[in-house]
Amino acid sequence: MSDAPDESLLSRLRSPENGRRLLHDEARSALVCAEAAREWPVIAGIPRFTSSEHLESFGRQWNRYEVVHDDEDRATFVAKTGIELSELAGLKVLDAGCGGGRYCKVTGEAVANVVGVDHTTAVEKASRLCAHLPNVDFVQADLKRLPFEDESFDVVFSIGVMHHDVETRAVFDAVARKVKPGGRYAVWLYRRNQWWQERINTALRRRTTSMDGDRLERLCRIGAGLGAIPLVNKTLNKVVNFSAHPDAQNRLCDTFDWYAPAYQHHHTTDEVLGWFRDAGFEELRVLPPEKTGRLYRWTYEKNLLIGSGVNVAGRRRR
Ligand SMILES: C[S@@+](CC[C@H](N)C(=O)[O-])C[C@H]1O[C@@H](n2cnc3c(N)ncnc32)[C@H](O)[C@@H]1O
Repeated sequence: MSDAPDESLLSRLRSPENGRRLLHDEARSALVCAEAAREWPVIAGIPRFTSSEHLESFGRQWNRYEVVHDDEDRATFVAKTGIELSELAGLKVLDAGCGGGRYCKVTGEAVANVVGVDHTTAVEKASRLCAHLPNVDFVQADLKRLPFEDESFDVVFSIGVMHHDVETRAVFDAVARKVKPGGRYAVWLYRRNQWWQERINTALRRRTTSMDGDRLERLCRIGAGLGAIPLVNKTLNKVVNFSAHPDAQNRLCDTFDWYAPAYQHHHTTDEVLGWFRDAGFEELRVLPPEKTGRLYRWTYEKNLLIGSGVNVAGRRRR
């Protein structure tokens, strides 16, 4: 089987260092920038511009847990981007921080031309998940140094990603530049909670982020167990976060996802609206959470829901 990246992807790839076109050297299984005498490997058909570094835990997480649920993933995509699946056909879409690829699958099945980018080997899981979709490609790269031209995507979305880098805004701005004039950009980030919740979380994560993966997974199994207990999963998790997802694998994955990553910044809606405006976006919309119910909305508005989001979508000025 050829290890070459898809031709249409290859024609769009650019050096993240100087923006020049790249050539595929089949013998070396690498992408080459002739001008800079620089090359990047292609492994299992996926161009690799990074290794995992501080995002290492995500490579483990996405390759280990099975969390895809098609109906739920479609509904989450629509809720967190404000974009209907029927609007996507034929558009160039970037999933910025694709993880295991569940939203690449959703958008690929809606016949968009999708590129999923992740810093880690999660792209391998994502690529297997979308193997039936020739219109979906993957690249392992840093969102701050994307190997694509500016203004080259019609739709860019990023769900639960940018707050895991050293500085969220640097990622936001770098990704915003890839949106075409008139194109759409939707970003979901963790919401800042009450000061006492933030303090407890910071103290807990100071310990968990330095644990090895197996030990942390054992702890997260306890959290995932608590998440299955009615009432406990609506009260105790306002103090110590664990997932209350109905599926046990998702609970484990979500809980690990919370405690493993080196960085986890929390933001406010006003802050993110300001980033959109500064980057030249208009028609801004603050998207409401997926879940409904009076108690849920009350706790959400009081910033008491740990792991809930700040979700903004906009259109780039023409
Ligand atoms: C919580 S996961 C979310 C994955 C996916 N959006 C989803 O919701 O299923 C965050 C992902 O963002 C990726 N990520 C974070 N910062 C990144 C960066 N600067 N460049 C590329 N990927 C990044 C991580 O590797 C991780 O897989």
